[in-house]
Amino acid sequence: MQSSLQSKLHVAIIMDGNGRWATQRRLPRKIGHRIGVEAVRRVVEAAPKLGIGTLTLYAFSADNWRRPEAEVTALMGLLRRYMRTETARLVRAGVRLTAVGRRDRLPEDLAASIEWAETASLQGQALNLRIALDYSSRDAILQAAAMARGPEDLTREGFSRLLNGEQDYRDVDLLIRTSGEQRLSDFLLWECAYSELHFTDRLWPDFGAEDLETALEEFHGRDRRFGGLVESEERAPAVAVS
Ligand code: FPP
Repeated sequence: MQSSLQSKLHVAIIMDGNGRWATQRRLPRKIGHRIGVEAVRRVVEAAPKLGIGTLTLYAFSADNWRRPEAEVTALMGLLRRYMRTETARLVRAGVRLTAVGRRDRLPEDLAASIEWAETASLQGQALNLRIALDYSSRDAILQAAAMARGPEDLTREGFSRLLNGEQDYRDVDLLIRTSGEQRLSDFLLWECAYSELHFTDRLWPDFGAEDLETALEEFHGRDRRFGGLVESEERAPAVAVS
């Protein structure tokens, strides 16, 4: 991974609430997903300006295949259109797009569009945009474990490398979930070991750059201790306990 991006924040987002957004307006759920793509555009544009080097978006989970066929087809269509129509803009903005998750169950033309977008945006230096589709963190962990060749792969660093593939991403610093739900839904379980969590009631189609900014402001106010002590506590004189 580009070293300058590796030193910047990794933010991951569970983009939830598209269906409710549409239902509240008596619209078909697929319209919620369509408007959700506009929110994707807003956060991708804002991310580099907010110190984000890697942005991982949960677009379709391995369990989302259980949704009605029409909704799955609509989502696959949106993703295909995103790859085809958005790549030129991403390249201009210096965004490198990568998909994470299984590819063998995706429609062939979507898989081909992904490959094309990945190749076209390979040189992007401003942002790593990772789109998780047909993704399950538990499956990704199992797959990485099956690839381990020996003890050198079974260290925290070695295993992270197996999970990341050829690119080297830092762990997630901040995980955001929209729509008021507060769960991980099999997303980046290894990579989120020490991530800060931000839950907002905002439904994904309404999410914008200012919401991302608010989440980051809150993040910067947190004490990240990684199991240790914050600096001020390390320096503080011991308090006698009687
Ligand atoms: C969850 O909302 C959202 C999804 C399963 C799909 C997310 C996809 C997009 C935002 C569009 C395509 C993405 C890209 C990157 C181009 P939900 O349907 O579960 O909402 P609900 O909980 O209100 O029903």
